[in-house]
Amino acid sequence: MSGYVAGKIAARRVWAPGLVSLTVDAPLEPFAPGQFVNLGLELGGRLVRRSYSLASAPLAQPEFYLTALETGELSPALLSLDVGDELLVDPKPQGFFTLSWVPEAAELWMLATGTGLAPFLSMLRQGEVFQRFEHVVLVHGVREPSHLTYRSEIRELASGGKLTLVPVLSRDPSALGVVHGRIPAALVDGRIEAAAARSLSPERSHLMVCGNPAMIDDTIHALEPRGFRRHRTRKPGHITTEKYWE
Ligand SMILES: Cc1cc2nc3c(=O)[nH]c(=O)nc-3n(C[C@H](O)[C@H](O)[C@H](O)COP(=O)(O)OP(=O)(O)OC[C@H]3O[C@@H](n4cnc5c(N)ncnc54)[C@H](O)[C@@H]3O)c2cc1C
Ligand SMILES: NC(=O)c1ccc[n+]([C@@H]2O[C@H](COP(=O)([O-])OP(=O)(O)OC[C@H]3O[C@@H](n4cnc5c(N)ncnc54)[C@H](OP(=O)(O)O)[C@@H]3O)[C@@H](O)[C@H]2O)c1
Repeated sequence: MSGYVAGKIAARRVWAPGLVSLTVDAPLEPFAPGQFVNLGLELGGRLVRRSYSLASAPLAQPEFYLTALETGELSPALLSLDVGDELLVDPKPQGFFTLSWVPEAAELWMLATGTGLAPFLSMLRQGEVFQRFEHVVLVHGVREPSHLTYRSEIRELASGGKLTLVPVLSRDPSALGVVHGRIPAALVDGRIEAAAARSLSPERSHLMVCGNPAMIDDTIHALEPRGFRRHRTRKPGHITTEKYWE
């Protein structure tokens, strides 16, 4: 457990069964939006730890946005924590899914599935994206309407006119005001761009893509024919990614 410190649940918001935001009282080192920390619990006499993106802005109390996997080792235990309960926190934030690694572009497109929204919340709350880019598009792909979380806060952030939210819903064909299906297919047939009233172009757009690894691979394949490629330091491109699992 070396390096880990005790944290305490300060607040807990349940969005839907198995989908929770936790605010944690813990002394984190400074971080950049998009970074993650390791959270842990002692289960069966050993430390079980996993990575979780910070959803909060750097100077705010650390907040995490979590889903419980039915057969997961740690996530159901984390989601069952109540206000005042303790957990273990590695105070050192990590990761390169940050704006400092994103090259110059006019527009930033943030594509997330599920809790892959978390790093984008941190970036939007911090606000540098609104100085740096002419416009930001946030595409959030989820299974059902109750998973379209943080809507009122995102609407508030969008009221400045520099952010457009495109909700994508895969399992409720009756819902209104959303794009139906999955993100890559809705990019291929133009429905996401139509909903955002903006066009993606390799000259003007950079994409940050976070969450389900199959969505990330499928998105890259969907955009390759249009001239987009993964961004690498040695070979600049247009797509920066953070996979939540392999
Ligand atoms: C950089 C990074 C940041 C992350 N940030 C977040 C975050 O902000 N919020 C969050 O909820 N999770 C996040 N994760 C995922 C998290 O680290 C755990 O993998 C997840 O909570 C499952 O842990 P577990 O112990 O319950 O499942 P495990 O017992 O480890 O096993 C579950 C298996 O399911 C797969 N899996 C992992 N996550 C998911 C998922 N969401 N949906 C479907 N299958 C999955 C993996 O293959 C994993 O091996 C992040 C992962 C990484 C690498
Ligand atoms: N305990 C609970 O009650 C509870 C609550 C929420 C989540 N969970 C669990 O958490 C895990 C993650 O669920 P999640 O819904 O957050 O994440 P997810 O399974 O990654 O789904 C999020 C979105 O990504 C889409 N997607 C999946 N594969 C894709 C691909 N190849 N390309 C593009 N889009 C793709 C999904 O579409 P499709 O719908 O078409 O797959 C869905 O719209 C699951 O194991 C789930 O059971 C549990």
